[in-house]
Amino acid sequence: MTQKNYKDAIINPVFSIIAEAATELNVDCYVIGGFVRDFLLKRGTPTDIDIVAVGSGIELAQKVAQKLPNLPKVFVFKNFGTAMLKYDEMELEFVGARKESYHRDSRKPIVEDGSLEDDQNRRDFTINAMAISLNKSNYGELLDPFNGINDLQNKIIKTPLEPSITYSDDPLRMMRAIRFATQLQFNINEDSFSSIIKNKDRIKIISKERIVDELHKIIASKKPSIGLALLHKAELLPYILPELNALQGIEEIEGQKHKDNFWHTLEVVDNISIHTENLWLRWAALLHDIGKAPTKKFHKKIGWTFHGHEFVGSKMVYKLFKRLRMPLNDKMKYVQKMVLMSSRPIVLSEDFVTDSAVRRLIFDAGENIDDLMTLCEADITTKNPIKQRKYHNNFKLVRQKIIEVEERDHIRNFQPPISGEEIMKIFNLKPSKEIGILKEAIKEAILEGTIPNEYDAAYDFMHQKGKEMGLKNS
Ligand code: CTP
Repeated sequence: MTQKNYKDAIINPVFSIIAEAATELNVDCYVIGGFVRDFLLKRGTPTDIDIVAVGSGIELAQKVAQKLPNLPKVFVFKNFGTAMLKYDEMELEFVGARKESYHRDSRKPIVEDGSLEDDQNRRDFTINAMAISLNKSNYGELLDPFNGINDLQNKIIKTPLEPSITYSDDPLRMMRAIRFATQLQFNINEDSFSSIIKNKDRIKIISKERIVDELHKIIASKKPSIGLALLHKAELLPYILPELNALQGIEEIEGQKHKDNFWHTLEVVDNISIHTENLWLRWAALLHDIGKAPTKKFHKKIGWTFHGHEFVGSKMVYKLFKRLRMPLNDKMKYVQKMVLMSSRPIVLSEDFVTDSAVRRLIFDAGENIDDLMTLCEADITTKNPIKQRKYHNNFKLVRQKIIEVEERDHIRNFQPPISGEEIMKIFNLKPSKEIGILKEAIKEAILEGTIPNEYDAAYDFMHQKGKEMGLKNS
């Protein structure tokens, strides 16, 4: 990484087109930020490309667009002095170099023009402030005033300026530091970290949407616990996820302890991340125990209990999503369902597994049954190897049983074998509660195993039941 010229990073023809446009406008320009960082880290070919122009970024974008074969539309954000265009799977963002802090999401427009160095000074981290020249005189040269390349090599997150300046320019950067530390498995430099703790209260001024964006990225990382533990250590967690913060600690009464549900949760999230990329299943793992804080009780005879924590937890999911302005849609309902059902397979694995209990589980979980099993398996964090093997084996048996029962009874996408309309016709009924009662009785009989999930059996059962209810055939 010691070479000076990085022409390899800019072999895509789009860069020479940008260079040509810049020459015509007589401005200098550079590719900067995440593109340079990710190229040096060999993190694949980045498709988000940030170009900084020492002059007008908007004019440069317009000139570039004229030269591109498909004449792409230029989206101009005049207030921020930025412009964006899409070309060939790439998103090119153009900005004029600034003297003041750079962050495109800020509400306050930033206008003061500056040199390349001014611009680099006001970026978030040394590893994000490196630029590669697109100018004729030094095409491909790396401009790295803070030795970001060294920090890349040493895996360090560090601010270009005094940390308190960089973080108060945009307090979201405190979370960005933690997010990059998680994604790249880097360390945050000590001064920087102390500054985050000092400035933690400033996170309050950041919009929930930007915070959630960073949270998603932490949770989607290979080992989310790195970021979650850092949020805790930086004392940011109570501002962001107080429900999780409340799970910390071990209480002891009369020699009886419960486990620390915060650190347990972090293990569960890491475990599940080995098996799934599904962001929402990872969220479910993160939130599966949040109901334990408000339901915790100590009983002299049985010790610690968390009765109904799954139900309470699923209600808390709604409030948490609402507070963080996350969408209250099917994703939220999915997370709620996972939290609500998170203990169901455990009960099955402990007891003798009956077919009807498995049918009920499949019925309630529906298409999410596999995800639910994945969550339960991730929930095994015991350090006792014998217990660990036993629990995993039990779940294996439950999984097997699910397959057997499903093959036979087709409960997963359960459709009542007899429709309400048919019931109305057969008994000559108008819409009424009797229809609901009959449908429910048929479903119960199937789940209980009294009858198979088949039309004829359901038909006979319905007749019998109708008779008992005093209904007459039409
Ligand atoms: N930047 C900054 N402060 C912010 C956000 C961004 O200084 N709060 C600068 C950094 O130089 C960053 C560049 O803007 O590299 C682009 O920002 P962004 O696209 O958000 O991040 P990337 O670094 O490209 O990384 P990723 O795509 O992983 O988010």
